Amino acid sequence: MEVVIQPNAEKATDLVARVIAGKLRDNPRLVIGLATGRTMESVYARLVQMHREQGLDFSGCHTFNLDEYVGLPGSHRNSYRHYMNHNLFLNVNVDLRNTHLPDGAAADIEAECERYERVIAQCGGIDLQLLGIGLAGHLGFNEPVSSLRSRTRIKVLSPVTRAQNKALFTPPDEMPRRAITMGVGTILDARHCLLLATGGDKADIVARAIEGPMTSMISATALQFHPHCTVVLDEAAASRLQEVDYYRWIFENEPQWEPFRNGSNASGLDGHLVKRGWQKKAIAPVWDGANSRH
Ligand code: GLP
Repeated sequence: MEVVIQPNAEKATDLVARVIAGKLRDNPRLVIGLATGRTMESVYARLVQMHREQGLDFSGCHTFNLDEYVGLPGSHRNSYRHYMNHNLFLNVNVDLRNTHLPDGAAADIEAECERYERVIAQCGGIDLQLLGIGLAGHLGFNEPVSSLRSRTRIKVLSPVTRAQNKALFTPPDEMPRRAITMGVGTILDARHCLLLATGGDKADIVARAIEGPMTSMISATALQFHPHCTVVLDEAAASRLQEVDYYRWIFENEPQWEPFRNGSNASGLDGHLVKRGWQKKAIAPVWDGANSRH
């Protein structure tokens, strides 16, 4: 795992957007896993800005969202399909047919979950999975005691998640109690995981996820198993980490971060990784230590 700490939320968001943009420029057919939540709104705003001002091209990419509320059709104003359309898809040149979310209104939810896994596989798997983290430490909606090998399935939302996300519903009591979510195993299959967390309210769960023991109580701890996971934080979200000086030194000194230190080059990261022989490999089992870089 690599941990990058930025001075504030704006800079952390900008770095994440530039990593995504760099990967997309290097591979216009990138398969991107997307996340929702308040934190991601500014990442998508930045990507829209890059599309408008720098011609960032989404026409060849495929996207797969982590999750969707059960019972909400895509047309519902609180569905994640609606969130994605309005925050990103309708503001860039992505082909809407290549944007995928689980169908929360499907008559047969189990079949829908199986279909979602199949379509991800048919697209060759996810190259870059963008992640937020909930206050309960979930990835997607992998609530406490989610199996660390789980695949896309239905989950009942925990009280912490319901309290956190309720405010986004109008009226709040309309918030569904269940969601379809990629499993922890589905997420770990992505070739690169990129988690963004900002703000002091995330500091405790971020420290437990990055430096704490691995546990299904906090699904984000499973990222410690991933061969290529980058965590981007602002100072507030990083404030409870023990090894901040070590993480800072790496960002300030290791050559792969050079293009990102001064905010100049959006595609430098992958260029550098390729030069060092770290180019994309086939999906490896997550427990294969031989493939682990972080
Ligand atoms: C929802 C999503 C998660 C996301 C979380 C963070 O619960 N299902 O994938 O990580 O929101 O939300 P926020 O950015 O609002 O803190």
